[in-house]
Amino acid sequence: MTNAKEDQKLTAILGWSLQAIEAADKLGRPFVVVSTPEFQTFADENDITFVAWDFDRLNEGSDELYEKLKALNTGVAVPIYEETVEWAGALNARFFGDPRIFNRSLLLRDKGLMKRKAQMAGIKVGVFEEAHSKDDIYRFMKRVNEALIKIDGDTNDPIHIKPLNKAGTVGHVVVRDASDIDKVTDSDFPYLMESHLDGQEFSVEAFIYDGKIKFLNITEYVKLGYSNFVPASPSLEKYRPQIHKAVQQLVDAFEIKYGVIHPEYFISHDGTLNFGEVAARVPGGHIFELIERAYGFSPFQAQIMCSDPATPEEEIDAFFPEEVTSSKGYAGSLMVYPRVRLIEKLDVPEELKNDPYFLKHDLFLPNTTKVADRVGFGNHYGTLFFFGDDSDRMRELLEQYEEYDFYH
Ligand SMILES: Nc1ncnc2c1ncn2[C@@H]1O[C@H](COP(=O)(O)OP(=O)(O)O)[C@@H](O)[C@H]1O
Ligand SMILES: [Mg+2]
Repeated sequence: MTNAKEDQKLTAILGWSLQAIEAADKLGRPFVVVSTPEFQTFADENDITFVAWDFDRLNEGSDELYEKLKALNTGVAVPIYEETVEWAGALNARFFGDPRIFNRSLLLRDKGLMKRKAQMAGIKVGVFEEAHSKDDIYRFMKRVNEALIKIDGDTNDPIHIKPLNKAGTVGHVVVRDASDIDKVTDSDFPYLMESHLDGQEFSVEAFIYDGKIKFLNITEYVKLGYSNFVPASPSLEKYRPQIHKAVQQLVDAFEIKYGVIHPEYFISHDGTLNFGEVAARVPGGHIFELIERAYGFSPFQAQIMCSDPATPEEEIDAFFPEEVTSSKGYAGSLMVYPRVRLIEKLDVPEELKNDPYFLKHDLFLPNTTKVADRVGFGNHYGTLFFFGDDSDRMRELLEQYEEYDFYH
């Protein structure tokens, strides 16, 4: 007798993530983890099928990785981190026999291409251009402010510049005048430059199956890179129908068929939505953990299920709870960065520990007292988690403790 599970193809998890590994395991899916060689021993000790791979290597290597995974009877690749997105594209193009899947994944990896694609599809974006030199930045800043009818002596409207292919705000600079341009790192060219978008920033985590949105979460950003909560407060959730429409428009434009997407938008007071960017991987800011806390399902499992066209649609539909109404409360997180150069003491106040909204923290006193230089939002020292039933109180707590010095 043949066992359906034995015939099931492997899911390749691209990038090391214990949460993704647990999710695949819980789903009872055979899987293989593809990650850097340093995880080989751990994988061996825990009977995890593992392929050592360095994602920094050039894309010509994708054929070799494909052959390795094919030999293991792999059927689908799921990207966990930004650097693995185009690898998943290259692999899934082969697994599904559709070369365009790779080209689509490249749209997600180049901020300039991404913006252009969005604009061509009628999605509202700021004015943007690519910069290859400091002169380009200077000219763009000047032209944007001329268009805003600024005259000599008026303060400039800022422009934003960011390296075309980085995430996590790495290399992002707000340029207000010529002196800011002087400070720009030469090695980070080419940049995407964009006019400033006003309004409240938020993200969406949308689980897509067969080109349709199966579950849509809105994450309210309290302070970018520090704090956010799920689901969004009523004042933002009231735009849900409009946001849902905008996300479907994005899915259609980028021809996204399977998996998870994590777009960022700005909404202004009059309800105008501006598109920021979109990623197709696990979002940062502990958002998946927050969704799990609020809704009680594992977004890691959801991502794996939605990434695989072989998952029956009924399974997907049965998996997701109702949006917003089924959430048990608001789940929030605050990432903590030391504000001192040398750390001697960790101080977690009683008042925080006794707050009914406080769940847990994983702050620790590091072995080395010197604080590493900060690149983007890469290296926070730990996270505080909150849960409660009032979004105003949640916001208040996140703002209050963002100001607090946990490290001395
Ligand atoms: N045009 C813009 N207007 C206003 N804020 C911006 C703009 N571009 C970037 N930002 C801010 O910088 C952050 C990082 O930029 P983003 O394009 O999301 O790149 P990444 O997250 O990949 O570093 C955004 O989340 C937003 O807060
Ligand atoms: Mg971003």
